[in-house]
Amino acid sequence: MSVTIKSQHEIELMREAGKILAKTHEELAKAIKPGMTTYQIDKLGEEIIRSYGCIPSFLNYEGYPASICVSVNDEVVHGIPSKDRIVIDGDIVSLDAGVIYKGYHSDAARTVAVGEISKEAEKLIEVTRQSFFEGIKFAKEGYHLHDISNAIGDYCESFGYGVVQDLVGHGIGRNLHEDPEIPNFRQKKRGIKLQAGMTLAIEPMVNMGTHEVSWLDDDWTVVTDDGSLSAHYENTILITKGEPEILSLL
Ligand code: MF3
Ligand code: CO
Repeated sequence: MSVTIKSQHEIELMREAGKILAKTHEELAKAIKPGMTTYQIDKLGEEIIRSYGCIPSFLNYEGYPASICVSVNDEVVHGIPSKDRIVIDGDIVSLDAGVIYKGYHSDAARTVAVGEISKEAEKLIEVTRQSFFEGIKFAKEGYHLHDISNAIGDYCESFGYGVVQDLVGHGIGRNLHEDPEIPNFRQKKRGIKLQAGMTLAIEPMVNMGTHEVSWLDDDWTVVTDDGSLSAHYENTILITKGEPEILSLL
Protein backbone atom coordinates (compact mmCIF):
# COMPACT_ATOMS: atom_id res chain seq x y z
CA MET A 1 0.00 0.00 0.00
CA SER A 2 1.18 3.51 -0.61
CA VAL A 3 0.65 6.63 1.43
CA THR A 4 -2.84 8.08 0.89
CA ILE A 5 -3.79 11.75 0.67
CA LYS A 6 -7.10 12.39 2.38
CA SER A 7 -9.93 14.42 0.84
CA GLN A 8 -11.56 17.33 2.67
CA HIS A 9 -14.49 15.08 3.56
CA GLU A 10 -12.21 12.40 4.98
CA ILE A 11 -10.31 15.03 6.96
CA GLU A 12 -13.60 16.29 8.44
CA LEU A 13 -14.42 12.78 9.67
CA MET A 14 -10.92 12.34 11.09
CA ARG A 15 -11.24 15.69 12.91
CA GLU A 16 -14.40 14.43 14.57
CA ALA A 17 -12.81 11.06 15.42
CA GLY A 18 -9.81 12.89 16.89
CA LYS A 19 -11.92 15.23 19.05
CA ILE A 20 -13.83 12.30 20.48
CA LEU A 21 -10.59 10.46 21.22
CA ALA A 22 -9.10 13.54 22.88
CA LYS A 23 -12.16 13.82 25.13
CA THR A 24 -11.96 10.10 25.88
CA HIS A 25 -8.37 10.50 27.06
CA GLU A 26 -9.24 13.52 29.21
CA GLU A 27 -12.12 11.73 30.90
CA LEU A 28 -10.17 8.52 31.36
CA ALA A 29 -7.10 10.23 32.82
CA LYS A 30 -9.27 12.07 35.35
CA ALA A 31 -10.93 8.85 36.48
CA ILE A 32 -7.77 6.87 37.24
CA LYS A 33 -7.23 6.36 40.97
CA PRO A 34 -5.09 4.03 43.09
CA GLY A 35 -6.90 0.72 43.66
CA MET A 36 -8.48 0.48 40.21
CA THR A 37 -7.85 -2.61 38.13
CA THR A 38 -6.61 -2.26 34.58
CA TYR A 39 -9.79 -4.15 33.61
CA GLN A 40 -11.91 -1.34 35.12
CA ILE A 41 -9.84 1.23 33.23
CA ASP A 42 -10.50 -0.62 29.96
CA LYS A 43 -14.24 -0.95 30.63
CA LEU A 44 -14.54 2.74 31.46
CA GLY A 45 -12.59 3.67 28.33
CA GLU A 46 -14.81 1.50 26.17
CA GLU A 47 -17.93 3.03 27.75
CA ILE A 48 -16.71 6.56 27.04
CA ILE A 49 -15.83 5.74 23.42
CA ARG A 50 -19.23 4.14 22.80
CA SER A 51 -21.04 7.03 24.55
CA TYR A 52 -19.77 9.24 21.70
CA GLY A 53 -21.12 6.82 19.10
CA CYS A 54 -17.68 5.50 18.16
CA ILE A 55 -16.29 1.97 17.95
CA PRO A 56 -13.13 1.12 19.94
CA SER A 57 -10.77 0.15 17.13
CA PHE A 58 -8.37 -1.99 19.17
CA LEU A 59 -11.06 -4.45 20.32
CA ASN A 60 -10.40 -7.71 18.45
CA TYR A 61 -7.74 -6.04 16.28
CA GLU A 62 -5.53 -9.00 15.31
CA GLY A 63 -7.02 -10.75 18.31
CA TYR A 64 -6.32 -8.01 20.88
CA PRO A 65 -8.89 -8.72 23.61
CA ALA A 66 -9.69 -5.21 24.92
CA SER A 67 -10.50 -1.62 23.89
CA ILE A 68 -7.67 0.19 25.67
CA CYS A 69 -4.03 -0.83 25.96
CA VAL A 70 -3.13 -0.31 29.62
CA SER A 71 0.63 -0.56 30.21
CA VAL A 72 1.95 -0.10 33.75
CA ASN A 73 5.49 1.05 34.71
CA ASP A 74 8.00 -1.10 32.77
CA GLU A 75 5.29 -2.19 30.34
CA VAL A 76 5.89 -0.16 27.18
CA VAL A 77 2.72 -0.74 25.14
CA HIS A 78 -0.08 -3.24 24.46
CA GLY A 79 -0.61 -4.19 28.12
CA ILE A 80 -3.71 -6.37 28.32
CA PRO A 81 -6.25 -5.20 30.91
CA SER A 82 -6.76 -7.69 33.76
CA LYS A 83 -9.01 -8.03 36.80
CA ASP A 84 -5.88 -9.08 38.73
CA ARG A 85 -3.80 -6.00 37.97
CA ILE A 86 -4.37 -3.15 40.41
CA VAL A 87 -2.71 0.21 39.88
CA ILE A 88 -1.27 1.79 43.01
CA ASP A 89 0.01 5.15 44.18
CA GLY A 90 3.29 5.91 42.40
CA ASP A 91 2.59 3.88 39.26
CA ILE A 92 2.71 5.35 35.78
CA VAL A 93 0.13 4.05 33.33
CA SER A 94 0.29 4.34 29.56
CA LEU A 95 -3.17 4.45 28.00
CA ASP A 96 -3.41 3.83 24.29
CA ALA A 97 -6.80 4.10 22.60
CA GLY A 98 -8.26 4.15 19.12
CA VAL A 99 -11.71 5.06 17.83
CA ILE A 100 -13.57 4.64 14.58
CA TYR A 101 -16.01 7.38 13.58
CA LYS A 102 -17.98 6.85 10.37
CA GLY A 103 -15.30 4.51 9.05
CA TYR A 104 -12.30 6.70 9.97
CA HIS A 105 -9.73 6.08 12.65
CA SER A 106 -7.97 8.15 15.25
CA ASP A 107 -5.22 6.79 17.52
CA ALA A 108 -3.67 8.46 20.57
CA ALA A 109 -1.78 7.59 23.75
CA ARG A 110 -0.96 9.32 27.02
CA THR A 111 1.02 8.26 30.08
CA VAL A 112 -0.63 9.30 33.33
CA ALA A 113 0.42 9.31 36.97
CA VAL A 114 -1.43 7.29 39.61
CA GLY A 115 -1.42 9.40 42.77
CA GLU A 116 2.02 10.81 43.59
CA ILE A 117 4.93 9.72 41.35
CA SER A 118 8.69 10.28 41.54
CA LYS A 119 10.38 13.34 40.02
CA GLU A 120 12.24 10.98 37.67
CA ALA A 121 9.01 9.43 36.41
CA GLU A 122 7.47 12.88 35.93
CA LYS A 123 10.45 13.93 33.85
CA LEU A 124 10.26 10.81 31.67
CA ILE A 125 6.58 11.49 30.94
CA GLU A 126 7.22 15.16 30.13
CA VAL A 127 10.24 14.47 27.89
CA THR A 128 8.26 11.80 26.01
CA ARG A 129 5.40 14.25 25.45
CA GLN A 130 7.77 17.02 24.39
CA SER A 131 9.59 14.70 21.96
CA PHE A 132 6.36 14.44 19.98
CA PHE A 133 6.27 18.25 19.71
CA GLU A 134 9.96 18.36 18.77
CA GLY A 135 9.18 15.85 16.01
CA ILE A 136 6.18 17.64 14.56
CA LYS A 137 8.21 20.82 14.05
CA PHE A 138 9.17 18.96 10.86
CA ALA A 139 5.69 17.62 10.07
CA LYS A 140 4.86 19.84 7.13
CA GLU A 141 5.29 20.03 3.37
CA GLY A 142 8.91 20.65 2.46
CA TYR A 143 10.29 18.24 5.04
CA HIS A 144 10.78 14.49 4.84
CA LEU A 145 9.33 11.80 7.08
CA HIS A 146 12.56 10.94 8.86
CA ASP A 147 13.18 14.56 9.80
CA ILE A 148 10.43 13.85 12.34
CA SER A 149 12.08 10.57 13.44
CA ASN A 150 15.48 12.20 13.89
CA ALA A 151 14.11 15.09 15.94
CA ILE A 152 12.22 12.76 18.29
CA GLY A 153 15.14 10.37 18.75
CA ASP A 154 17.81 13.02 19.24
CA TYR A 155 15.68 14.90 21.78
CA CYS A 156 15.03 11.79 23.90
CA GLU A 157 18.61 10.60 23.73
CA SER A 158 19.86 13.99 24.92
CA PHE A 159 18.29 13.04 28.28
CA GLY A 160 19.97 9.62 28.27
CA TYR A 161 16.70 7.80 27.62
CA GLY A 162 16.29 4.76 25.39
CA VAL A 163 13.92 5.22 22.47
CA VAL A 164 12.12 2.03 21.45
CA GLN A 165 13.09 0.88 17.97
CA ASP A 166 11.05 -2.30 17.61
CA LEU A 167 7.75 -0.42 17.37
CA VAL A 168 6.92 2.57 15.18
CA GLY A 169 4.23 5.12 14.35
CA HIS A 170 2.14 4.80 11.20
CA GLY A 171 -0.15 6.32 8.63
CA ILE A 172 -3.83 6.20 9.61
CA GLY A 173 -7.23 6.80 8.02
CA ARG A 174 -9.71 4.24 6.80
CA ASN A 175 -7.39 1.74 8.51
CA LEU A 176 -5.71 1.89 11.92
CA HIS A 177 -2.35 1.10 10.37
CA GLU A 178 -1.47 2.51 6.96
CA ASP A 179 1.80 3.39 5.26
CA PRO A 180 4.24 4.88 6.06
CA GLU A 181 5.95 3.41 9.11
CA ILE A 182 7.29 6.21 11.32
CA PRO A 183 10.38 5.34 13.40
CA ASN A 184 11.16 7.40 16.49
CA PHE A 185 14.96 7.30 16.21
CA ARG A 186 17.64 8.59 13.86
CA GLN A 187 17.51 7.20 10.30
CA LYS A 188 20.19 7.03 7.63
CA LYS A 189 17.87 8.21 4.82
CA ARG A 190 15.47 11.16 4.90
CA GLY A 191 12.42 9.06 3.97
CA ILE A 192 9.44 10.08 1.85
CA LYS A 193 8.48 13.69 1.19
CA LEU A 194 5.63 14.91 3.36
CA GLN A 195 2.54 16.19 1.56
CA ALA A 196 -0.53 18.07 2.68
CA GLY A 197 -3.40 15.66 3.29
CA MET A 198 -1.31 12.86 4.81
CA THR A 199 -2.58 11.72 8.21
CA LEU A 200 -0.04 10.19 10.58
CA ALA A 201 -0.02 8.64 14.06
CA ILE A 202 3.26 9.69 15.65
CA GLU A 203 4.01 7.80 18.84
CA PRO A 204 7.33 7.92 20.68
CA MET A 205 7.80 5.13 23.25
CA VAL A 206 10.61 6.09 25.60
CA ASN A 207 12.39 4.09 28.30
CA MET A 208 14.29 5.47 31.27
CA GLY A 209 17.02 2.88 30.65
CA THR A 210 17.84 0.66 27.68
CA HIS A 211 15.85 0.95 24.45
CA GLU A 212 15.72 -2.86 24.28
CA VAL A 213 12.30 -4.44 24.76
CA SER A 214 10.76 -7.92 24.81
CA TRP A 215 7.33 -9.48 24.36
CA LEU A 216 5.70 -11.36 27.24
CA ASP A 217 4.20 -14.83 26.75
CA ASP A 218 0.74 -13.30 26.19
CA ASP A 219 2.20 -12.26 22.79
CA TRP A 220 1.08 -8.64 23.32
CA THR A 221 2.63 -6.95 26.33
CA VAL A 222 5.92 -5.24 25.49
CA VAL A 223 8.27 -4.64 28.46
CA THR A 224 11.63 -2.97 28.91
CA ASP A 225 14.50 -5.47 29.12
CA ASP A 226 16.04 -3.76 32.15
CA GLY A 227 12.77 -3.25 34.04
CA SER A 228 13.04 0.53 33.74
CA LEU A 229 9.94 2.72 33.42
CA SER A 230 8.53 3.50 30.00
CA ALA A 231 6.28 6.30 28.71
CA HIS A 232 4.22 6.68 25.52
CA TYR A 233 2.72 9.73 23.83
CA GLU A 234 0.79 9.61 20.58
CA ASN A 235 -1.43 11.81 18.47
CA THR A 236 -3.02 11.57 15.06
CA ILE A 237 -1.96 14.57 12.97
CA LEU A 238 -2.75 16.08 9.59
CA ILE A 239 0.08 17.33 7.37
CA THR A 240 -0.61 20.72 5.76
CA LYS A 241 1.47 23.27 3.88
CA GLY A 242 1.94 25.07 7.20
CA GLU A 243 1.76 23.93 10.80
CA PRO A 244 0.43 20.38 11.29
CA GLU A 245 -3.06 20.02 12.70
CA ILE A 246 -3.10 17.79 15.78
CA LEU A 247 -6.39 15.99 15.34
CA SER A 248 -6.46 14.11 18.65
CA LEU A 249 -5.98 17.14 20.93
CA LEU A 250 -8.72 19.53 22.03
N1 MF3 B 1 -1.48 2.59 19.07
C1 MF3 B 1 -1.10 1.22 18.92
C2 MF3 B 1 -0.60 0.98 17.54
O1 MF3 B 1 -0.62 1.86 16.75
C3 MF3 B 1 -2.13 0.27 19.39
C4 MF3 B 1 -2.74 -0.72 18.48
S1 MF3 B 1 -2.48 -2.31 18.96
C5 MF3 B 1 -3.96 -3.04 19.34
O2 MF3 B 1 -0.07 -0.08 17.23
F1 MF3 B 1 -3.90 -4.24 19.03
F2 MF3 B 1 -4.20 -2.87 20.58
F3 MF3 B 1 -4.91 -2.53 18.64
CO1 CO C 1 -0.63 3.90 16.93
